[in-house]
Amino acid sequence: MELPNIKILDEKNKTLRQISQKVKFPLSNEDKKTIQDMLTYLKMSQIEKYYEKYNLRPGMGLAFIQLGIPKNIFVIVNEVDDEQFENYVIINPKMISHSEELIYVGEGEGCLSVNREVEGIVPRYARMRISYQDENGKECEIRVREDLSVAFQHEMDHLNGILFVDKIDKNNPFKDKDKMREI
Ligand code: NI
Repeated sequence: MELPNIKILDEKNKTLRQISQKVKFPLSNEDKKTIQDMLTYLKMSQIEKYYEKYNLRPGMGLAFIQLGIPKNIFVIVNEVDDEQFENYVIINPKMISHSEELIYVGEGEGCLSVNREVEGIVPRYARMRISYQDENGKECEIRVREDLSVAFQHEMDHLNGILFVDKIDKNNPFKDKDKMREI
């Protein structure tokens, strides 16, 4: 596998604060290529021989805005078994419903645009259902839970110009810990 030539914006870049726009179909060939590049990059970032070779930080998701493109598209690559991956390409997502229950990632969330360790709780819904369009514009629905639910919410925040660090209380990073379940 060859490492795709993509540049991921750093949190200091104001472009990350833009609100992404609704995508029209059919997708351009350029957008299709960007989707494939992001999927390949994320997959390689989770495979030891590649992340060591290219010095990559492992990542599970990327939104178009992280490459400077303000379009409502994100992708997630989820390792389901040893080097077995599930790909999600999510376009124009909308949350339909979510659980009352909140969870947070105990070791902290990460983001390929945030190049530092950040401690603290990012409250997320334990489960949610969203509608979205696939690469062909087909209307779809998906129900996600646990770490996949966190990843989807993290990426949907990117589409609204929000980073996970925004959601951590600066004066009290572990506020309301007892009201949520750690995953
Ligand atoms: Ni991120």
